[in-house]
Amino acid sequence: MKKSFLLMLGWLAASLTATAGTTAVQALSAADLCPDSVRQEFLLRDWSFFLGDPDGAAQPGFDDRRWQTVRIPHDWAIYGPFDKEIDKQTVAIEQNGEKMATEKTGRTGSLPYIGVGWYRTRIPAGKSFDGRRVVLTFDGAMSQAQVYVNGQKVGEWPYGYNTFYFDIADYLAAGDENLIAVRLENVGESSRWYPGAGLYRHVRLTVTRPVSVDVWGTWITTPVVDSTVARVNVKTRISCPEGTALPGGLSLQTELLAPDGTSKACHTETLQVNGEFEQSLAVPQPLLWSPESPSLYRAVTRLYDGDRLLDRCETRFGIRSIAYNATDGFLLNGQPVKIKGVCLHHDLGPLGAAVNRSAMERQLRILKEMGCNAIRSSHNMPSPEQVELCDELGLMMMAESFDEWAGAKCRNGYNRFFGEWVEKDVENLVVHYRNHPSIVMWSAGNEVPDQWNERGIKDGFRLQALFHRLDPTRPVTMGMDQVSRTIKNGFAAYWDIPGLNYRLPLYGEAHTLLPQGYLLGSETASTISSRGVYKLPVRELKGQVWPDLQCSSYDVEACWWSNVPDDDWLWQDDNPWVLGEFVWTGFDYLGEPTPYDDYWPSRSSYFGICDLAGLPKDRYFLYRSRWNTGEHTLHILPHWNWEGQEGDTVPVFVYTDCPSAELFINGQSQGRLTKNPAGRLDRYRLMWMNTLYEPGTVEAVAYDAQGNEVMRKALNTAGKPHHLELQANRIQLPAQADELAFVTVRVVDAQGNLCPLADNQLQFKVKGAGRFRAACNGDATSTEPFHLPTMKAFNGQLVVLLQSDGTEGTMELSVSGRGLKPAVLSLECVAQDRP
Ligand code: GAL
Repeated sequence: MKKSFLLMLGWLAASLTATAGTTAVQALSAADLCPDSVRQEFLLRDWSFFLGDPDGAAQPGFDDRRWQTVRIPHDWAIYGPFDKEIDKQTVAIEQNGEKMATEKTGRTGSLPYIGVGWYRTRIPAGKSFDGRRVVLTFDGAMSQAQVYVNGQKVGEWPYGYNTFYFDIADYLAAGDENLIAVRLENVGESSRWYPGAGLYRHVRLTVTRPVSVDVWGTWITTPVVDSTVARVNVKTRISCPEGTALPGGLSLQTELLAPDGTSKACHTETLQVNGEFEQSLAVPQPLLWSPESPSLYRAVTRLYDGDRLLDRCETRFGIRSIAYNATDGFLLNGQPVKIKGVCLHHDLGPLGAAVNRSAMERQLRILKEMGCNAIRSSHNMPSPEQVELCDELGLMMMAESFDEWAGAKCRNGYNRFFGEWVEKDVENLVVHYRNHPSIVMWSAGNEVPDQWNERGIKDGFRLQALFHRLDPTRPVTMGMDQVSRTIKNGFAAYWDIPGLNYRLPLYGEAHTLLPQGYLLGSETASTISSRGVYKLPVRELKGQVWPDLQCSSYDVEACWWSNVPDDDWLWQDDNPWVLGEFVWTGFDYLGEPTPYDDYWPSRSSYFGICDLAGLPKDRYFLYRSRWNTGEHTLHILPHWNWEGQEGDTVPVFVYTDCPSAELFINGQSQGRLTKNPAGRLDRYRLMWMNTLYEPGTVEAVAYDAQGNEVMRKALNTAGKPHHLELQANRIQLPAQADELAFVTVRVVDAQGNLCPLADNQLQFKVKGAGRFRAACNGDATSTEPFHLPTMKAFNGQLVVLLQSDGTEGTMELSVSGRGLKPAVLSLECVAQDRP
């Protein structure tokens, strides 16, 4: 009696959790499946992996015992080694204006992403799924995925960035188990950046009753948004096995829950037309979603046949309105909002393309703290984790789709698939993500070469119409770099929001000639800098290359097509019809090492506001001084260690939101400067161009418009490297296997000043409840592998990534380096859900 009661409780708990969310399983077993639950979703984590293309790898009888065991998300290429020869592309990059082909070495990161890889995993016997709908969803697979169940091909999906799914119930066998096998293939010259390789996003298995809410079958819109009431429309599509009819007595109940879980509206509908229910609910006094207060509601859907519950699922959504016009620019909930956005490629630096929620959360929090309010998923579909985090943290999103249409940028790029796949790709992007409040616009493409030909004009028109049909509530944009041509040929005239990539001198002409009356800086800046590197004399330079393959952090270097941040702001400040910008890029990324595309060993970008490790470059504080309106910023550059250059001119820049500041060197005033509203760089930065170097202290004191001191900051000349300082982004983390902590390691002198030139080789040891995951120093020319527990500091700093091993307890990181006093840091892995 007691035992069966406990069993029943266990079953009840299992079915409740099953309906509430996704369960991560290492190896899915029959015991995980509850035949009585209405819906279960599992993440399939454990796979075997082989790099190569052996015969019969899709067949259940194939012997894979020697294959590597991996947990996905997995990027097979990130472990390197970096190799100059990998994907060496002898090409002229046309969009960079190159006429002659040259050898590009680090274009895709010099990491071994090319080749065929197989993944295999097993799920329980067919009888455990008897009569149920079984859907296998790939959040993204890089690339050219071919999916097999029990040796039979289920389907394929070439584009590596999109989510796709297959109904696999008919392929399941009655035997002991079912085998899922996936073949992936990456070919060279298929990308302009590091694409990653493998099952780098999650794979999900969703098990429901045969009659259930369809995959992505709930579509929520908010046609009326007002502070007193919001109208919420819910369309729900029901699926049933092919060749069968829906039961006659279906009804659908939708309940809307406020962020605090209280029920705000509930409606039951019995009328369905062609398997689709439509409901309209009113939410009084709605809490609107915005970057400042990202309120999220939940719609709980219950599908009944008579009294019998057939399905229950939840959909998170937000209540907010978007609009755009020539007078106010972009409006969120009726209020004008300048888009202060950054572009992000999908890789996570030392983790490669493998999705990790805690790494993404750190990335987005760093950007949000800078005052950033929007992300562009350049130049492809974002991961579900990124979209969910933007919903939760309050970041608007431009969800992008393609870097190529039919015309090639890379010989083997998406152009090979465009004709057959483009509509399916757009459909999966939009239908998958259209309930997310963070997404405020779709992008149909980035600088596609077709923007200047007849085919492209038609394709663009057709694609925008497709986006509109799938989602009439959001505008569609297009990142155009051939601005003059697209103004002339009509291409730029029909996008809901014309996006200009760079080309500031053409903003005025575009505004005058285009019918929309407003435009967006869909891609801006592309300023280049290396953290902690300063080049003298300070000069504004375009496309400059230096012998050390680094760029100056005085933030004065750009490419011929690009500019420094200040130039974008002049346009935005002076013209309300500029909706805002998406800076290229928030973080450095693997590949595209412009301006060192043909210089080895450059293998990652210099465009980031933060480096590849996520450490802020000086530019971070320039953007922060303008974007973060809630807190003051005061930042001094460069470092103050110019041994041997005593008496030479070393200009000092101060980035602050305050209108003026006074600078002191060893107590001697260098004068007080005030921002010049009619100026260019001096409108946004305070620059002492003639300061002379003498070791000691540089101090800046910032004043408000009334002359009151707001804050002060000092920077000292550092002595010899003496010891190490460790600082973690969090010292307590959930004891769950994917959770990461990021520890910044600083080489400091005896007084704790950062040694800004230190390049000590450091060693990392971890014991206790976690392990060393990777390290990164942000040096774009480093060929040290990310996953070995040793790395050189770059300009005094690097970041170590620690990973919980899933157990509770203390994990301890020790960092040492020759001649330095070592440092130890303890972190607690605690049993709790994500904070
Ligand atoms: C743009 C392009 C980006 C990146 C950037 C570098 O034209 O859209 O993907 O290449 O240039 O400045």
